[in-house]
Amino acid sequence: MNDKLYVFDTTLRDGEQVPGCQLNTIEKIELAKMLESMKVDIIECGFPVSSPGDFKSIVEISKIVTESTICALTRAVEKDIDVAADALHFARRPRIHTGIGTSDYHIKYKFNSNREDILERAVAAVKYAKKYVEDVEFYAEDAGRTENEYLARVIEAVIRAGATVVNIPDTTGYCLPGEYGAKIRYLVENVPNIDKAIISTHCHNDLGMATANTLSGVLNGARQVEVTINGVGERAGNTAMEEVVMAVKCRKDIPVYTDIVTKMFNKASHSVSTLMRMPVQPNKAIVGRNAFAHSSGIHQDGVLKNRESYEIIDPMDVGVNDSTIELTARSGRAALKHHFQRLGIEMGKEELDACYQKFLQLADVKKEINDSDLFMLAGVTQDKIAQKMRLKYLQVVCGKNSIPMATVKLVIDGEECTATSSGNGPVDAAFQAVRSLVHRKIALEEFFVQAITRGTDDVGKVHIQIENKGNIYYGFSANTDIVTASVEAYVNAISKII
Ligand code: KIV
Ligand code: ZN
Repeated sequence: MNDKLYVFDTTLRDGEQVPGCQLNTIEKIELAKMLESMKVDIIECGFPVSSPGDFKSIVEISKIVTESTICALTRAVEKDIDVAADALHFARRPRIHTGIGTSDYHIKYKFNSNREDILERAVAAVKYAKKYVEDVEFYAEDAGRTENEYLARVIEAVIRAGATVVNIPDTTGYCLPGEYGAKIRYLVENVPNIDKAIISTHCHNDLGMATANTLSGVLNGARQVEVTINGVGERAGNTAMEEVVMAVKCRKDIPVYTDIVTKMFNKASHSVSTLMRMPVQPNKAIVGRNAFAHSSGIHQDGVLKNRESYEIIDPMDVGVNDSTIELTARSGRAALKHHFQRLGIEMGKEELDACYQKFLQLADVKKEINDSDLFMLAGVTQDKIAQKMRLKYLQVVCGKNSIPMATVKLVIDGEECTATSSGNGPVDAAFQAVRSLVHRKIALEEFFVQAITRGTDDVGKVHIQIENKGNIYYGFSANTDIVTASVEAYVNAISKII
């Protein structure tokens, strides 16, 4: 039986240290609940002494999250540990994560100290934290650049002082995978009491090796990984949870398992990206928009015949409904036929051949071929789709001390219809008016507004996701008037149901 690999998520602490990505308490609670339902073993929620906001978030999360261990970070300083213990008061499973820099860079320049003094401070911090909680994790900051022999002495001493987990961070992302793995192996082989604690990895991505280093650590004996969703974290980021967990799941030669509900990765990535206002690069492994998108004709044909020809992960396993077959000038007939079928358009061989030639001409001048282009190619004009439903007129009244009202005029299948509604804001009022005209049960799944530049005269882009009878529909619009853009995006999504 493989060993369990504990997953320690630090999105809310290391991830949240990124400039511009700060989260408020409500956002942190939302993410903590999501991490708990993903079965994350330990959630590091903040550094409580650093700000009242961090303190409050840990208190509130501790009251709500009961399955995952709640962890708070401290320096090897008594005051930090007192505050952390206080913040964790309500936690069902509390952990204090304390530590100190152990590399010569940290010892000489950060602390103006020496190795013996640092070792004593490390031991004292663990013993002090142990007065409050049973579960104490020790981090040897900059362990990646710490000499192995000294690191082993520190680790042995903190385990003797009661540390249950020993974290070996590659704080600066300097290590190579072989080197980091060898460091973990060195500790396994040279720390006499190492069996009394779990070794943890914590790898930063400065050289793009965070995931490789983490896995190398696991292959050499680490049984906890410190990770973040989307790999968010200081500088070039931390180790991405989705990459490590999927590598472990995919590769039977890594002798560990995790309890993570991988089907939630796509949603989790989306939530973190939206709440932290940090877009995910399209080619990001596992959760990027292109992670399951195939664009060359040879690959597309292969995937359509058998997914495994070009995919090592079933997209469903990470919560993506299907692979995407991108239509570009390099696509073949198989891909075009697949997309026509998806849109309910059946074609014989000759018709498809003719369409394919028109498609190639269009794809040469247009980077991406979308559904409207396909309808056009198939002879169903964009006009016909647009005629089904469009926004003809919108007027909103809003402002301080007034009741937000909206009047909406839609054209549905050529017929004009108008409705007026109130709401808790102009967008809510307009959406209610639209709903009263389309007579359908529509649930708003996502509403994402983005400014392109920073000016007040900016164009706002609105992405909307709605749900109707278990199906998801997307809508998009861009306008300098953000309310109009929102209503147009909503109507655009609903028109796809109709
Ligand atoms: O990167 C690091 O060393 C850390 C420690 C505080 C655990 O984030
Ligand atoms: Zn870190």
